[in-house]
Amino acid sequence: MQQTSASITAERKHSHVDICLHREVCFDAQDTGLASWRFEHNAAPEINAAEIDLTTVFLGRKIAMPLMISSMTGGYGEALSLNRMLAEAAEKYRIPLGVGSMRQALEGNSHRESFAIVRKSAPSVPVYANIGAPEVASGLSSAQLSLMLELVEADALIVHINPAQELFQPEGSTAFRGFLDKLHTITSTIPVPVIAKEVGCGISAIVARKLADAGVRAVDVAGAGGISWQKVEECRYIEKFDHDNRFSPSALDELLNWGIPTSVCLAGIAALKKQHPEYEPLSVVSSGGIRNGIDIAKSIALGADIAASAQHLLKALHEGTLQHTIETWANDLKAVMFLTGSATIEQLKQAPIHKQH
Ligand SMILES: Cc1cc2nc3c(=O)[nH]c(=O)nc-3n(C[C@H](O)[C@H](O)[C@H](O)COP(=O)(O)O)c2cc1C
Repeated sequence: MQQTSASITAERKHSHVDICLHREVCFDAQDTGLASWRFEHNAAPEINAAEIDLTTVFLGRKIAMPLMISSMTGGYGEALSLNRMLAEAAEKYRIPLGVGSMRQALEGNSHRESFAIVRKSAPSVPVYANIGAPEVASGLSSAQLSLMLELVEADALIVHINPAQELFQPEGSTAFRGFLDKLHTITSTIPVPVIAKEVGCGISAIVARKLADAGVRAVDVAGAGGISWQKVEECRYIEKFDHDNRFSPSALDELLNWGIPTSVCLAGIAALKKQHPEYEPLSVVSSGGIRNGIDIAKSIALGADIAASAQHLLKALHEGTLQHTIETWANDLKAVMFLTGSATIEQLKQAPIHKQH
């Protein structure tokens, strides 16, 4: 039977969750680099731990802590319950969440409820729609953009830019020419902010600047250190063709581990903002390998406004520990804030942090 593009997309989204839960697909030759940064201990913090305030404002909305549940899924049967549980956690802890790529919702109406359930289960927190750079580059109509935004009553649109993933994906699209111009058209026409994110290879300062010039209000660096989407797609390629001889064996390893570590992305964008204050308004999300609240704290001290996590929170959901994980990450973050004398997230942004050699 001939597969439709909607059924191919649904199958891919299903296998992504499966592979991320059950296969070893993290970078092995790269980490986030966050472990090599250490806060300066403050022996006289002059604050009471009980008064530490984790609330912050992201894209104009107050949230309870600087953490977002990253875009993951939607568009196939089981995605409905996954998205419902992720959204319930986001609502309970008053943090934003992104839905997975909405390409499937544009291709047909069979699983649109798996996206709509997110807004139903998270009525009061920021929810972000999501679409990929290849779809943007090939041109999205205003009807398609409205459909995605309305389906989740989106507070922002996330555009994921994933050239390495598309390169490795058996059915990937590598037509990226013209993406920035098309992105600019979207940022100047839709009624909500646009967040540009990678999916694990990181965003350099040069690219962040181009994205800001194209009108995006935030970049989510999604740097190297967590999932390698090249590895995820390599698993799918080998399952489909039983081999991969596309690349030299010696090059393959480097390509599978390709990317800019999360901490390097953050430091680069912070330096850009310092050198060119006109980019100061660009909000920054730190993601790619975030493992705990100390990673969140370090991200903020290195210039991020909030952090985001996908794989760790998905695994926690799978193990029935999602709520506990979010609570412990909040406790980790409070511990660092106490020990650096930071009563608020704004103060944490100024906390002294040093690179270890
Ligand atoms: C199962 C799964 C599916 C994902 N699907 C999407 C997606 O549809 N759109 C997107 O922008 N990112 C997607 N991502 C990427 C994440 O949002 C995130 O950028 C990336 O995994 C790096 O973060 P991490 O190391 O915390 O997982 C997905 C991640 C996971 C784990």
